[in-house]
Amino acid sequence: MRSAKDFFAPLAVGAPTPLREVPVRPSRMIHFFDPSNPKMAAKVPALVGEVDVLLGNLEDAVKAENKEAARQGLVDIARATDLGEHTQLWTRVNALDSPWALDDLTTLVTEIGDRLDVVMVPKVQGPEDIHYVDRLLAQLEARAGLTRPVLVHAILETARGMANVEAIAGASPRMQGISLGPADLAADRRMKTTRVGGGHPGYLVRRDPVDGDVGGDRPTYQQDLWHYTIARMVDACAMHGILPYYGPFGDIADVVACEDQFRNAFLLGCVGAWTLHPRQIDVARSVFSPSAEDVAHAWRVKEAMGDGTGAVMLDGRMEDDASLKQCLVVLELAERLAATDPALAELYGAGERA
Ligand code: GLV
Ligand code: MG
Repeated sequence: MRSAKDFFAPLAVGAPTPLREVPVRPSRMIHFFDPSNPKMAAKVPALVGEVDVLLGNLEDAVKAENKEAARQGLVDIARATDLGEHTQLWTRVNALDSPWALDDLTTLVTEIGDRLDVVMVPKVQGPEDIHYVDRLLAQLEARAGLTRPVLVHAILETARGMANVEAIAGASPRMQGISLGPADLAADRRMKTTRVGGGHPGYLVRRDPVDGDVGGDRPTYQQDLWHYTIARMVDACAMHGILPYYGPFGDIADVVACEDQFRNAFLLGCVGAWTLHPRQIDVARSVFSPSAEDVAHAWRVKEAMGDGTGAVMLDGRMEDDASLKQCLVVLELAERLAATDPALAELYGAGERA
């Protein structure tokens, strides 16, 4: 058993001290690119400042023969690109049981560890995977002389990972967050879908028959396949002070359903989602930034609640300590986003005055 006192001690001599809090930088969209694809790589500089997170993907969607080119491409891009103040650089390394993971971590941390904010680890099965990465990163950080720890993000995409999600979230002070990986999770669970994220028309409830007429008019309502998974992931993350994310939505043309999935995740507590195509970037930005109306309402409740105790009536609705706490969550997020996004600062400022 490890003593609680040791939890924040570096895991290698010379490694930076682990952080006590996850840095709260905006991460509404984690934009994936393939560093082995010269066309995608050429677009990276134009995305700086446009997206909260740029993620160089080394795992699935990169062909086996391009794995090394992707790794080297990411090193080159990280060195050549000025990421400005507001865009973070993340990577998704290959799975820990693959032939590439060790070289991915070794190369990236020793070559560009000072530029890399977060390493996303796919197909995490349990806390033991995080412990392995934790120690290895500490050794590599020490070798590279890094002064700030590289954080770790787990993808929730195996049934075992799902069963262990709370232990994964709390496995290390390096844990920054967890993303839903709906495609791999569906396969690992032996679900019968064939999509990357989103709902399914066959997963539904139907209205009861009227007067026993089972063939009569009985509207159906599509249900959300991911509700349980996201809700449990959000609880695991909140419990450990780390951040939950929706993952990929594969139907690039269907920006409407993409927005619905992202919004469900936002309302349940997620802070962002992956974007696989530029057209999903604005969807994520708008969904994961609170609306001007919600911010204005939150301000009204805050003002009406005075010292924060008791209850008041606003527009026929009861507001009390607990609704104020929800409003403070919205206001804190709005304030944080407005600090780096002038358009939002103006939008929320107008809402505040309304
Ligand atoms: C993402 O990696 C997924 O499997 O959905
Ligand atoms: Mg996956």
